[in-house]
Amino acid sequence: MTNIDRSGTSHLGTRKVKRLGYGAMQLAGRGVFGPPKDPEAARAVLCEAVANGVNHIDTSDFYGPHVTNRIIREALHPYPDDLVIVTKVGARRGADASWLPAASSGELTQAVYDNLRNLGLDVLDVVNLRVMPEVRGHGPSEGSIETPLTALAELQRKGLVRHIGLSNVTPSQVREGRRIAEIVCVQNHYNLIHRDDDALIDQLARDGIAYVPFFPLGGFTPLQSSTLSGVAERLGATPMQVALAWLLQRSPNILLIPGTSSVAHLRENLATAELELPAGVVAELDDIAKAA
Ligand SMILES: NC(=O)c1ccc[n+]([C@@H]2O[C@H](COP(=O)([O-])OP(=O)(O)OC[C@H]3O[C@@H](n4cnc5c(N)ncnc54)[C@H](OP(=O)(O)O)[C@@H]3O)[C@@H](O)[C@H]2O)c1
Repeated sequence: MTNIDRSGTSHLGTRKVKRLGYGAMQLAGRGVFGPPKDPEAARAVLCEAVANGVNHIDTSDFYGPHVTNRIIREALHPYPDDLVIVTKVGARRGADASWLPAASSGELTQAVYDNLRNLGLDVLDVVNLRVMPEVRGHGPSEGSIETPLTALAELQRKGLVRHIGLSNVTPSQVREGRRIAEIVCVQNHYNLIHRDDDALIDQLARDGIAYVPFFPLGGFTPLQSSTLSGVAERLGATPMQVALAWLLQRSPNILLIPGTSSVAHLRENLATAELELPAGVVAELDDIAKAA
């Protein structure tokens, strides 16, 4: 079993978590819609994560919808005291599996209660406001987040939400958000190749705010690069481990939530805690994004 403590810890608000966590999105059915083919295998991944010391799990009630949260509850409830489950609100699923905005005050309230019920919790540790882009499939787009964030802050005041984060946001939306509520984390698309948020990560590190990259392994199109494969071979590691190790060294405020539906991949990903990248290798990996 890997000792994931070697990857270190960081903070999500008042909660301290290990930097190697787990993202549960892959536990729903194909297209993050409906139940998984093998629910027992999905529960086994979660149990293995916690058995290996993972204490940060990322989820949402719109995965399935409701599917991953119910699997988390079935597998892990009652939860270990140190486990921090981070969820997100602001979207819903259409009957055709589409991803739709759902950020009115009523929809956010409903989403918070759905998460509480399906996870079996009285209060949600961290809730990210997931900002939906104007055009599906595109990154964050500018526009005020004041109305939905004010509604989420109201749910925090009622004691249903401990900490608030933002997801799929621009730096100016982060600045606007911080004027409305205390923001403990930002969850955006970022990895070895997709590095739009470099400056934002450095700013958040200075401000003591966690940055949680989604698609750390490339998401639906896993990362592929001959440089990455070459480095992995030289280090006796896998390309996915090198991609995760690169994120860990990138900045101390980065928390990892790689997703997988496989116990074997989970073990491989957690073993990244044992992998240190020599400085020369980091420079080589940095060049991948410059060439992309
Ligand atoms: N805020 C947002 O908008 C947002 C968006 C997307 C995701 N997220 C969160 O971020 C988490 C991570 O993102 P993600 O799961 O979409 O993408 P990811 O972690 O970048 O990659 C997951 C993909 O990589 C594969 N994989 C994982 N480990 C592997 C390994 N060791 N070797 C080979 N393939 C491997 C998985 O397949 P297998 O299942 O076969 O391992 C899956 O296809 C999600 O679980 C979710 O919690 C948030």
